Amino acid sequence: MLTTRFTELVGCTVPIQQAPIGGCANPRLAAAVAEAGGLGMVSVTGDPPEIVATRLDQARQLSAGPIGAHFFLLMIDPASAPESVVAAAERAPVVDFFYANPDPALVDIVHAAGALASWQIGSVEEARAAADAGCDFVIAQGIEAGGHGRGQIGLLALLDAVLSAVDLPVLAAGGIGTGRTLAAVLAAGADGARIGTRFVAAEEAEAHPRYVEALIASRPEDTVRSDTFALDYPGAPHRALRSSIEAAQAFQGDVVGEFVDPTDGTRAPVRRFQKLTITRHVSGAIEAMPHWAGESVRGVARVQPAAEIVRELAGEAERLLRRCSPGSAP
Ligand SMILES: Cc1cc2nc3c(=O)[nH]c(=O)nc-3n(C[C@H](O)[C@H](O)[C@H](O)COP(=O)(O)O)c2cc1C
Repeated sequence: MLTTRFTELVGCTVPIQQAPIGGCANPRLAAAVAEAGGLGMVSVTGDPPEIVATRLDQARQLSAGPIGAHFFLLMIDPASAPESVVAAAERAPVVDFFYANPDPALVDIVHAAGALASWQIGSVEEARAAADAGCDFVIAQGIEAGGHGRGQIGLLALLDAVLSAVDLPVLAAGGIGTGRTLAAVLAAGADGARIGTRFVAAEEAEAHPRYVEALIASRPEDTVRSDTFALDYPGAPHRALRSSIEAAQAFQGDVVGEFVDPTDGTRAPVRRFQKLTITRHVSGAIEAMPHWAGESVRGVARVQPAAEIVRELAGEAERLLRRCSPGSAP
């Protein structure tokens, strides 16, 4: 059993947080991760309070384990978020933020409702700001991470500096897709890992099969950090498969496909270079849509239940760490 300050704080049995992977971070995925002992995350970015409540209640019906709520502040005005943050903090034991500067007002709202607050950060300065804002733990995101990234340097260098700078549980994010890489960050002092790309291939994530097939076929070298998918959010770097960047650049026309909202059936065009997560509810030129992927992509070998991913990662990490512990056989 891998016990850390993080597992004790949030009530997990394994030091794994499922990253809030956009539209794939649905209640089913979060509940499956929580049932397996990790911290599941439901993305509630941009949702009004009643939808936040519905999504978190759906997850809660599936698992009594730890399930957090996530707000991606790149996509919303933090000033418009408070009511949704209250709705989240009243139902989820952890409310997580990413992208804006750590905001003490949002952290206070979370604490007032009795939940823990966390912030994904990309620098030592941001980590200190999160600690000063009152966050209960932080996630240090290295440049290897899939999706949008604040990190400018490699994970180990950042983790090393952040662990020295703040006295909070610190999770490591970026490039962790195997038990070996999980063991490495735990051995370095991280209290756990936030894992994104591996969970895109979880059965419950409902990612588009062609996106998952592309991940399975890719190596870390096939990912690249750029600001290609910047239609609505310019200047926000992200890591994605090079093939999707090239296909989007080569695509002729402004509309690459369509999204059908599974909750109400409304349809919306997917525009070229638009930021979105390619779920099963998207159709069209899938190859020209953003294939978010971290350097962890090597760990994506097949579609698996989320619980199996959690067990595989935690089991392998634990075996490796036991090998290194004093008195164990070489
Ligand atoms: C498909 C995908 C979508 C993501 N969407 C978000 C998001 O909405 N909010 C967020 O904080 N991070 C998001 N991330 C980044 C993760 O929080 C995390 O930093 C990253 O997945 C870690 O690297 P890894 O993908 O190599 O595991 C996303 C990552 C992926 C792969």
